[in-house]
Amino acid sequence: MKFSSALAALSAATLVHGHGYMTLPKSRTRLGSESGIDTCPECTILEPVSAWPDLDIAPVGRSGPCGFNARVGVDYNTPRSGLWGNSPVQRFQPGQVIDVEWCVDHNGDHGGMFTYRLCQNQTLVDKFLTPGYIPTSDEKQQAEDCFEAGTLKCTDVSGQNCGFNPDCSPGQACWRNDWFTCNAFQGGDRRGCQGVDNKPRGSCFTTIAGGYPVTKRIRLPNYNSAHTLLSFKWNSFQTGQIYLSCADIAIGDGSITPPPSTTIPSNPGTCVPASTVAVTFNERATTVVGQTIKVVGSIPQLGSWNPAAAVTLSAAGYTNSNPVWSTTLDLAPGTTFTYKFVRVESNGAIAWESDPNRSFTVPGGCEGAKASVDSAWR
Ligand SMILES: *[C@@H]1O[C@H](CO)[C@@H](O)[C@H](O)[C@H]1NC(C)=O
Ligand SMILES: *[C@@H]1O[C@H](CO)[C@@H](O)[C@H](O)[C@H]1NC(C)=O
Repeated sequence: MKFSSALAALSAATLVHGHGYMTLPKSRTRLGSESGIDTCPECTILEPVSAWPDLDIAPVGRSGPCGFNARVGVDYNTPRSGLWGNSPVQRFQPGQVIDVEWCVDHNGDHGGMFTYRLCQNQTLVDKFLTPGYIPTSDEKQQAEDCFEAGTLKCTDVSGQNCGFNPDCSPGQACWRNDWFTCNAFQGGDRRGCQGVDNKPRGSCFTTIAGGYPVTKRIRLPNYNSAHTLLSFKWNSFQTGQIYLSCADIAIGDGSITPPPSTTIPSNPGTCVPASTVAVTFNERATTVVGQTIKVVGSIPQLGSWNPAAAVTLSAAGYTNSNPVWSTTLDLAPGTTFTYKFVRVESNGAIAWESDPNRSFTVPGGCEGAKASVDSAWR
């Protein structure tokens, strides 16, 4: 029965949505999951929406900036007594650089780009903090527009890898048409790596196949609020889906009890710690025929700062729209080094990238772990 097996394949495929939600600061969705009323926190989806990259054309609808989990009928845009929304879960300072994390399910990484956002209009946000009040579609859309205007750029935090940069453009390496968990959605046999953070599957909680944490740092704006919302938004690349979640936070004023520490459910699986990690350097550098890009740095594998011993990158993936030079090195987890790219002319003349030196620490992970560093000539 060809027809029914095609149907079965189709229904199996539709189960494999992209899936993810904000875990740090503790989002409303995470609290919903921990309280037991949300049996699939990673299933809070706005869909269907237009295809990548125009996902944002669609109105935010009932999903609002905080998400609506249709699977369990939970609207995260309104406080739930005793569970979330009644007080901030964490307090920060204006301008503080903070750690944020979201969790992507092993079965549902659809690439794309994600952002953290803050709406600085308290009148709009208060609609989402009022017990017993469900914001109207208009109010959800106005708040969503305000959150979009308050995108917290990855590049506001110096020194971090911005391979998903919310303000980047098509053709740039940060235009994220790739898996977060693998850096190899279109990577053929390079597939199978452990995640952005190189933590084992199950390091954060999802219900479908186990989650990989994706951590970043963001800089909060110089803004004061005794109770506001940090919104997470993931526009997925492979599917017409948007993921939204919010965390209740305070910035500046207001005294709040720090949240109780929690243990993240873990799924140890079988992790043999990696003895080496395959680190791929992708450097966007427009070159002309005869020029070569090399990488030189503080460790022997990178020539100990001797450009004559630098590692030559390959231009195999180089195109006019995406002029990428790449190389992969096997390095021991925990190795920290500084480095720069150099452009070498056919006559041997060398041009160095501008200061400062770049630096990198090889992440840990299980056997087979991979990491990548995306950068552009400067
Ligand atoms: C906040 O949003 C409301 C509703 O759109 C608007 O009337 C008000 O002017 C905004 N306040 C500020 C300070 O922008
Ligand atoms: C970069 O590293 C080299 C080698 O350690 C050092 O000589 C140089 O001063 C560094 N540059 C900066 C700007 O720190």
